[in-house]
Amino acid sequence: MITFENVTKAYDNGTVALDNISFHIDKGEFVFVVGPSGAGKSTITRLLMHEELPTSGSILVDGIAVQDLKRPEIPYLRRSIGVVFQDFRLLDDRNVYENVSFAMQIVGASRREIRRQVPSLLSMVGLSHKAKLLPTQLSRGEAQRVSLARALANNPPILLADEPTASLPPKTAFEIVELIGEINARGTTVVMATHAKDIVDNMKKRVIAIEDGLLVRDEVKGGYGFETR
Ligand SMILES: Nc1ncnc2c1ncn2[C@@H]1O[C@H](COP(=O)(O)OP(=O)(O)O)[C@@H](O)[C@H]1O
Ligand SMILES: [Mg+2]
Repeated sequence: MITFENVTKAYDNGTVALDNISFHIDKGEFVFVVGPSGAGKSTITRLLMHEELPTSGSILVDGIAVQDLKRPEIPYLRRSIGVVFQDFRLLDDRNVYENVSFAMQIVGASRREIRRQVPSLLSMVGLSHKAKLLPTQLSRGEAQRVSLARALANNPPILLADEPTASLPPKTAFEIVELIGEINARGTTVVMATHAKDIVDNMKKRVIAIEDGLLVRDEVKGGYGFETR
């Protein structure tokens, strides 16, 4: 589902964020990308989304050679990937229902599809009863649930989560990761960048560890493995 082959990313200022990284992620896997702040985790997300291009190497996502995409083809890639971030990035002037339905409108879903899909997504994330609330009226955990529902609105085969629990209290963080685990169990391939040691050590999933742009470890049932403050 995702292949990085000898991927190097140097930003314009010369910073080498990823240094000759290779890995393969199969359909249906759940993978943690771990590493200290500045290691290169978010750069992986940006490359997968075609927000940045690799300096060298190749990236395959759901059969698409990302570095070769032409601008008009980028929406097809984005439809294969749902993404959530630490800071939710919800539209504050739209309610919960509208935040999810908007993601479907953008790709041209019919009103009928939207009326069927949005309630089912809100039910999956446990927020059916808050559909009419604005993001500012939600707890941070609820806001991240909305962001997850939105990420899955167009049934992408891949969910990318870049530090999705970093701004949440520990209990809420675990609930969000459990939910992401349920999403994975329904067949979505999950790649979650995190430096939440407790979560990684608890889940016993595959771990790809990045340090200073180098892939230093790739373990089937790994732990966090870095010193924490
Ligand atoms: N747009 C950019 N321009 C220059 N350097 C960047 C840019 N984005 C990230 N970096 C640098 O690349 C390295 C990896 O960053 P990032 O992928 O965001 O790490 P992480 O998500 O693991 O904290 C860091 O040294 C960071 O400062
Ligand atoms: Mg980051």
